[in-house]
Amino acid sequence: MAREISINPLTAHGFFAEIVGADLADPSDDAQFATIKAAHLAHGVIVIRDQRLTPDQQIAFSRRFGPLAIHVLEDQLLAGHPEILLVSNKTEDGRYVGLPDAGRFWHTDQSYERRPALGSLLYALEVPSDGSGDTLFCDMSAAYAALPAATKDRLNGLRGMHIYDHGHKAFALGEAQKARLPGHDHPLVRTHPETGRKALYLGGKVLKHVIGLEADESAALLDELYAHCQSETFVYRHKWRLGDLVFWDNRCTMHFAQPYDDATYTRHMHRTTVQGDIPV
Ligand code: SIN
Repeated sequence: MAREISINPLTAHGFFAEIVGADLADPSDDAQFATIKAAHLAHGVIVIRDQRLTPDQQIAFSRRFGPLAIHVLEDQLLAGHPEILLVSNKTEDGRYVGLPDAGRFWHTDQSYERRPALGSLLYALEVPSDGSGDTLFCDMSAAYAALPAATKDRLNGLRGMHIYDHGHKAFALGEAQKARLPGHDHPLVRTHPETGRKALYLGGKVLKHVIGLEADESAALLDELYAHCQSETFVYRHKWRLGDLVFWDNRCTMHFAQPYDDATYTRHMHRTTVQGDIPV
């Protein structure tokens, strides 16, 4: 019997939707997969509630969207499951088991690579009991659509240089890791390969400068774009519940993990990342 899945948009303009009634533990359910894929494309970010997933089940479901990326920080991957990046402030023997401060600035995943991530699936296994540790999401398609025509014209053909240097509090890249990630340039506006919609493609502190502009001109343009897209109109704040699996489309959104009291509370999540194509 087909599952009863409901899709509830959580903003007035349809960005970010909640999905209730799905069970991702069964990745072979084609009808469910088609519903979730369509919702992901339509809403940019979806939260699939009430999941109970083993690492193998999360990996199998994620793989239905494409090959999975293995994160460069190999010490922060789940043992035996390198497809899973641990986003966690748990410690074992005095060291963090995962990344305690992943994504603490506006960004889109792996924008420093030639083929940045299509999407990321973050599954909440433990969340702070005081309700903190939210993630903000920004609708970059709506933000682009709302730009004045003169700004759209100005952005036409401009490209930005993206370089990995997150400055995580506990980890620095080794020389071999740095050599693997020289950085890449991408258009400031990209066209979504599946929906055809245009979106701003920025990267927070990973996006170093706009190619061909003087440093001050580049900084002023990026400041103007960030101020525009980070206005309340385009941003949704997700408050995590246990069992949430949030799946965001990196091709048309940015996200920003909010700090929380990590000396008091545990926030433990498994992230899988689907490889994408070259932004155009
Ligand atoms: C990330 O950027 O992958 C982490 C987001 C979060 O922890 O909310």
